[in-house]
Amino acid sequence: MTSEAAFPANFLWGAATSAYQIEGQPLADGAGPSIWHRFAHTPGRVANGDTGDLACDHYRRFEEDVALMADLGLGAYRFSVAWGRVLPEGRGSVNAKGLDFYRRLVDALLERGIAPMITLYHWDLPAALHDRGGWLNPDSPAWFADYAQVLFRALDDRVPLWVTINEPWVVTVPGYLDGELAPGHRDPFEAPRVAHHLLLAHAEAVAAYRSLGGRHRIGLAVNLEPQHPASPTPENQAAARRRDAFINRWFLDPLYLGRYPAELATIFGAAWPEFADADLARIRSTSDSVLGGSLGTGCATDFIGVNYYSRGLVRADPNTQPLGAIRISPENAPRTTMGWEVYPPGLTETLLWIKEHYGNPPTYITENGAAFDDPPPADGLVPDPERVDYLRAHLRAAHAALEQGADLRGYFVWSLFDNFEWAQGYSQRFGLIRVDPPNQARILKASARFYQNVIRANGV
Ligand code: NOJ
Repeated sequence: MTSEAAFPANFLWGAATSAYQIEGQPLADGAGPSIWHRFAHTPGRVANGDTGDLACDHYRRFEEDVALMADLGLGAYRFSVAWGRVLPEGRGSVNAKGLDFYRRLVDALLERGIAPMITLYHWDLPAALHDRGGWLNPDSPAWFADYAQVLFRALDDRVPLWVTINEPWVVTVPGYLDGELAPGHRDPFEAPRVAHHLLLAHAEAVAAYRSLGGRHRIGLAVNLEPQHPASPTPENQAAARRRDAFINRWFLDPLYLGRYPAELATIFGAAWPEFADADLARIRSTSDSVLGGSLGTGCATDFIGVNYYSRGLVRADPNTQPLGAIRISPENAPRTTMGWEVYPPGLTETLLWIKEHYGNPPTYITENGAAFDDPPPADGLVPDPERVDYLRAHLRAAHAALEQGADLRGYFVWSLFDNFEWAQGYSQRFGLIRVDPPNQARILKASARFYQNVIRANGV
């Protein structure tokens, strides 16, 4: 099938990773341990007892890795900074060696003409801060802003795109409500407070960026998935609306509209606290200039990052609390090895929903990709036709949204490498490039070649 989808001339083509998932050596050169280091070393938390101790060994192989990125023709590379490498205690004195690693990485990227997009928080909170209450502590937004300033001061002259926090919903729900990811808490009274502090942390970091005279652009990356009722019964429709509020609107409504979705108070009941109006004004003000408003607090969020993988097909389920809804897997639908339905139209729907609901802010697809059981390499290349199909279909879906006016500026594949997929360890392969932690050879997949051609042609 050949259908032409040409992207705008300045469209940014990238790939994404995160620190704990690829770097390895999490305690090297004076770094402080993170909650993920602790969690992965707690028996029973991660599949097969996998940890990020070695991962893709990127901490030592970054130069080779940047050369691979250049071969693929990447225009941008999204990576995260491990907070505890820079501030081993989470606050206080800077560890020069840790910061220097990111300086050298940024320099290597720029030498190859690859624009760095830095995520400041991709889930690896310094354990020392967790011991002070972590994201439950009302001081956590200030800790985060202080840490962010260290990075802005060191690197803003060379980094065009900053992401404050990656997927605050995942930090909140699997981290503090379901307990599947670090720190593994299961407490409905904690989750809303954590979410609120993450939003304030974003706002404070953006405010710090502005007050330091930040010269580039700063945004937030959220995981979004359209929620469709499994059948058109009133119960399922209501369940899909609740899940939409819970996943898609929990962070974007406060950011762009200055209020939490009303459904959340109902979902959480007694566990939903009263939040100060001043906090919500502070959070909202971050997006004010994007919407052309006039609050003038000087801390406007410049763009929204969308991590898109699938949709939610939702059924009402009173046994699943507090939401009263579950996601089901449609029979016969194509699925990835994560069990997620392959649903490209959901990407168009999501991008147009942002346009309609939040005033069409500049948007990047900061993650999109799929895990499959790739066959072993043949003739030096891993044949991964399912991933090629997934990427092609999603790129066309992104293009369809562009054609309908969504302000989409770039696209990042998740992920550059097979890497540490959190609680699933190395059992899930998302990479354009195959990596097996024991031998560390980097082997391109057919999807890497496919993506290289997309970049070259600036279209699919
Ligand atoms: C979202 C997360 O940001 C990333 O860390 C994760 O590996 C992918 N989704 C795939 O689950």
